[in-house]
Amino acid sequence: MELPIYTKQQLALRNGQDKPQIWVAFKGVIYDVSESRLWRNGKHYEHWAGQDLTEELSDAPHTDAVFEKFNPVGRLDV
Ligand code: HEM
Repeated sequence: MELPIYTKQQLALRNGQDKPQIWVAFKGVIYDVSESRLWRNGKHYEHWAGQDLTEELSDAPHTDAVFEKFNPVGRLDV
């Protein structure tokens, strides 16, 4: 099934502060991390949800395997 496309502005509202959902984009796919205790209020170490964090993954002490347990909710508009 095709995922809905969201703009950067729509993603930005899902930052854990403005709307109840907490979303993060990685390599064009938006994941819902609302259930994660590690993303509470949209904050994950020094990173904020509601944006594309593809480049920032290289700073993380983990790989992109961390996204496996989360459902993609959409794609990021380019
Ligand atoms: C300074 C940078 C970062 C630190 C110190 C950090 C640290 C951690 C730690 C300790 C965990 C849990 C253990 C593990 O799964 O290995 C974790 C999970 C996770 N991280 Fe990061 N991380 C960083 C950056 C990022 C970035 C940039 C992203 C997104 C591109 C990200 C996405 C995630 C996700 C989705 C999880 C899984 C959360 C869960 O299972 O509830 N992290 N991170």
